[in-house]
Amino acid sequence: MNSIFLDREQARASQFEAVWNDQLDAVFADVAPYYDQANLVASFGLWNGWRRKFISTIDTRPGANVLDVCAGTNAIGIELLNKEPSLRVHAIDRSEAMQEVGRERAEARGMSIDSTIGDVHQLPFPDNHFDIVTLQFASRHLRLAQVLAEIKRVLKPGGWFHHCDMLRPGNRFVEEAYYIYLRMCLTVTARVFGSSETALDCRRYFIQALRMFYSPKELSELLAQVGFSEVAHQPIFAGMLAFHKARKTIAD
Ligand SMILES: C[S@@+](CC[C@H](N)C(=O)[O-])C[C@H]1O[C@@H](n2cnc3c(N)ncnc32)[C@H](O)[C@@H]1O
Repeated sequence: MNSIFLDREQARASQFEAVWNDQLDAVFADVAPYYDQANLVASFGLWNGWRRKFISTIDTRPGANVLDVCAGTNAIGIELLNKEPSLRVHAIDRSEAMQEVGRERAEARGMSIDSTIGDVHQLPFPDNHFDIVTLQFASRHLRLAQVLAEIKRVLKPGGWFHHCDMLRPGNRFVEEAYYIYLRMCLTVTARVFGSSETALDCRRYFIQALRMFYSPKELSELLAQVGFSEVAHQPIFAGMLAFHKARKTIAD
């Protein structure tokens, strides 16, 4: 990987490692029961539409073996099974609380999603194992280059990685307006849903983490640096959100 990305990853880790290690689990344990409703409110009802649009970009052949990384409340796994019920879907997340909500949501729909509680920096799966890996709305909380290398390792040659997240808009004016909107959203949803002090304290982190994160174009470059091929992205809302896809080379 080139030194620009190495330095950026190092800077993100040294700035945020304490939050990642010491605070995020408590935040997601607090947020788990109202996570899906809060996202719907904060996005003015657009959340589910974005997810469906993202899922529509994934080519799901019957029986494919899928891993959803940082699966949270299983929003992606459930939507994938809605699209193709014969998929074998595995979820991994560090938060018991988020996965417990996810298990209940899947069961309520008569779906089965295997769950692993663990840290995604070292995926507890064999090499060349999954046809598809997905990662949505979690990359800012990760040493991303390390996780992308792990995702590439567990993908079968020819398998696809699909990523959806809020990213740092390339345009400075859009970026500042975006942070004002996010700060307002985080405050309103925290008050409406009665978030804990830990979750409230993390509002500044959520914005800072985005300031130091990648634009859609930079994330494509990082994917290529990690060794993925056929990297492509689709910016949504002036790059505030983007869908990325990338393939593990057949020869890898
Ligand atoms: C904002 S939620 C996104 C959940 C889901 N992907 C979605 O789109 O709704 C972020 C999730 O990442 C998980 N997470 C953060 N860091 C992690 C790590 N190092 N290992 C495993 N899971 C992690 C959190 O527990 C949380 O469930």
